[in-house]
Amino acid sequence: MKRDFLTVWDLSSHEVAGLLERAIAMKAGKDSRACPILGKSVGLIFEKPSTRTRVSFEVGIYQLGGQTVCMSPAELQLGRGETIGDTAQALSRYLNAIVIRTSAHERLDTFAQTASIPVINGLSDKHHPCQTLADLMTMQEQKGRLKGLKVAFVGDGNNVCNSLIEAASRMEFNLSVACPEGFEPDQEIFARASAASQSKILVMRNPHEAAQMADVIYTDVWVSMGQERNAGEKKEKFRDYQVNSRLLSGAKSDVAVLHCLPAHRGEEITADVMDGPNSWVFDQAENRLHAQKALLEMILS
Ligand code: CP
Ligand code: NVA
Repeated sequence: MKRDFLTVWDLSSHEVAGLLERAIAMKAGKDSRACPILGKSVGLIFEKPSTRTRVSFEVGIYQLGGQTVCMSPAELQLGRGETIGDTAQALSRYLNAIVIRTSAHERLDTFAQTASIPVINGLSDKHHPCQTLADLMTMQEQKGRLKGLKVAFVGDGNNVCNSLIEAASRMEFNLSVACPEGFEPDQEIFARASAASQSKILVMRNPHEAAQMADVIYTDVWVSMGQERNAGEKKEKFRDYQVNSRLLSGAKSDVAVLHCLPAHRGEEITADVMDGPNSWVFDQAENRLHAQKALLEMILS
């Protein structure tokens, strides 16, 4: 049966742990298997811009022995009204898997239901699970464990935050999300994650309370792709939700600062923190490559 990866729930905690172990081994150059996806073709459809996701998938697939076919909607008949279902069925006849970045998460669900090949979520408005695998790998590397960690997410309750909430539930770390009123994470995702876990998953207003004695502080842009229309108004509401040295002073001294990137220095994170000794954001970006290679190996070989 094909394995899709549309949300963090699609992997069990056991599978996530195994995947992280494999990704860390791959990063250390301990690749026991040469070219595990030799001769396989993976499609990449990006309906939104990307730097890290696209390049890390393209390079990772090459390193695993596979081939990529990159497509933008303007180049596909999808842009001229062909349905997602017909596109999914046709592409399934050529490709072995497909990575899709889109807006509405339902588009991915429809694609996955119709395709006979594995579908991987390269970001939707609701989830960013490939990012989360790299986040978990970075936390594991920096803290030596996931279970019991105190993680603070400060900012918008967006796709990255939703996937982190699912991961907190799966991997049993405690997560405090601090966000302004009206910008909470998805209610259904939060309820399901809280109900399924022993870990404490909280949503609060005060970023300093969330960051208090935190092992990890995570942030993301205040304005996600596709929300540019109300950017000015939104930024006003997020002024108190900046990751800066004052926020870090309440956390553990060795707190790891994470950001999925791209970042806006001076908005959600200050330059001194982003470029300072607690920041692991570029290791986190690198880990996209290793974590996705481990994911592809698991799904395709
Ligand atoms: N973090 C992330 O997904 O980056 P890109 O938008 O550059 O792919
Ligand atoms: N929340 C951001 C993540 C970018 C990687 C967005 O959706 O634009």
